[in-house]
Formats: sequence, C-alpha cells, structure tokens
Amino acid sequence: MKKLLIAFFMTFPVLAMAAGGGFPLDKAPINLEDNESLKRGARAFANYCLSCHSAEYMRYNRIGRDIGMTDVEVAQELIFTRDKKGEKTKVGELMKVAMTEDYSKEAFGTKIPGLTVIARARGADWLYTYLRTFYLDDSRPTGMNNMAFPDVGMPHVLWELQGLQKANFKTEMGEDGNEKHIFENMEIVKPGKMNVEEYDVFVADLVNFMVYMGEPMQLERKSLGIKVLIFLFFFAIIAYLLKKEYWKDVH
Ligand code: HEC
Repeated sequence: MKKLLIAFFMTFPVLAMAAGGGFPLDKAPINLEDNESLKRGARAFANYCLSCHSAEYMRYNRIGRDIGMTDVEVAQELIFTRDKKGEKTKVGELMKVAMTEDYSKEAFGTKIPGLTVIARARGADWLYTYLRTFYLDDSRPTGMNNMAFPDVGMPHVLWELQGLQKANFKTEMGEDGNEKHIFENMEIVKPGKMNVEEYDVFVADLVNFMVYMGEPMQLERKSLGIKVLIFLFFFAIIAYLLKKEYWKDVH
C-alpha cells in the first residue's frame, strides 16, 4: 500500500513537467458563465488565430447558439474566410482554415495543429502562459522564443497588442560546474496597443473561448442540469398529489 502511494505521488511532478516544460504556469481566470468574455474570445480567435489554425470540429452557428450570438452577428463578427471559389464561408460550416496544409509546411516547416480541443490537451493555464510569454530571441527564425513552448515555430502573432518583451535571465554557477540561466522577469522593450493588464484580459478571454470550444457540452450540461432539477421539483409535487389521491380511500 505504502509503495503504491509513493508511486502515485511521484507521478505528479512528472505530469506537471510534461505539461509546462518546467516553466511555472500562471492560473488562467476561466469563467464559462461569462458570455461577454466568450464573445470577445471568439472574436479574437477568428481575427488572430483562424488564419493559420483551424478549429475543424466546431461549427460557427453552434458557437453563436451556445454563447448568445445571432447568425447575423456570427457572420459579421466571426467569419472572415472564403472558399476556393471566393464565396464567403456560411454560418453552418466548420471553422476551417484558409491556408492549405502544403503551404503551412512550406512556410512554417510543420503542419499547424487544429485548435478545437487544444485546451483539453494542454490545459487552460498552459495556454494562458504560452500566449503571454513570447520574448525576443535573435537565435530563432521568427526572432521570438517562448517560455512555455521553447523553440516554438509559431510567430508572436499578438505582438502588436502586447508589444515586444525581452526575458531577463541571471546566470548562476550550478553545482555541476555548468552555468545555468535562470529566468528573472519580462521587460517590455516596445510597448504595444495594450498595457499589461489589458493584454492579460484579452488573453484570458481568448483562453476562456478555447476552453469552451474544447468541450462545448460543458455549457449545455449546466443548463440541462437546471432543467432536470426543475422537472424533478414539479414531478415530486405531482407524485405527492397522486399518492394522496390513491390512498384517499384507504385511510
Ligand atoms: C502565422 C500563423 C499562425 C497564427 C496566426 C497563429 N499560430 Fe499558433 N502556431 C503556428 C505554428 C506554425 C505552430 C506550430 C509550432 C511548432 O510546432 O513549433 C503553432 C502552434 C500553436 C500552439 C501549440 C500547439 C501544440 O503543439 O500544442 C498553440 C496553442 C497555438 N499555436 C495557439 C495559437 C493561438 C491561440 C493563435 C491566435 C492568437 C495562434 N496560434 C495563431 C502558427 C500560427
């Protein structure tokens, strides 16, 4: 038993490392009840991510239904892609990407992953940290590196909003005699359109939306749960009245 427990607890740090690459993750302020946040996140996703990534299991109108946007709003605010014939994508279609796989391989050297279920694969905290920790690094082809995803191939597509930041490291001698670079802090060297607080909210909304997208049933399950409770309440009253009716003559 004791051995089992030890084995159990020893796997935890390993899991945390696998998800975060060792960099401490910031807690994402997720709130799936906040439709305004989900709408802002959906707009951000359509504007800034869908040009490269798809969300190939998600339909536009499903999002609208779930977070309270009409088909007209969805068409105006979320749909920017066109098909090969140049026709605008319709609200009933899947969130496919405009870029072809061949092009993405050529331009980025890798197949760009779809993001429908990324929040389940990586976790909200990882995404929240990832999108806020791009930093300048001359040694990388994109000129940027990332704390949560070292040597990432994705350019910092949100740099105009966040600005450009540099990571400060301090160098220490490790016990093994090798120099170690220890992360100290981030320093904005070129301000963007948003300050740090505004950018954090922007990313939080975006991650909120990705968490919803990874499991849209979460929203439905909640509203279904309430309906079931209401049903049970009225059913209990009816059952009680029925019981009274049936036993009337016996007593
Ligand atoms: C210019 C194209 C481009 C845009 C726009 C873009 N990405 Fe990426 N993204 C990439 C590429 C390329 C990779 C693959 C990186 C790698 O494997 O090294 C990637 C990887 C990722 C990953 C990691 C996936 C994994 O392997 O776990 C996440 C998460 C991600 N992108 C989120 C986003 C979000 C959110 C947005 C919108 C704010 C966005 N991306 C916009 C090109 C893009």
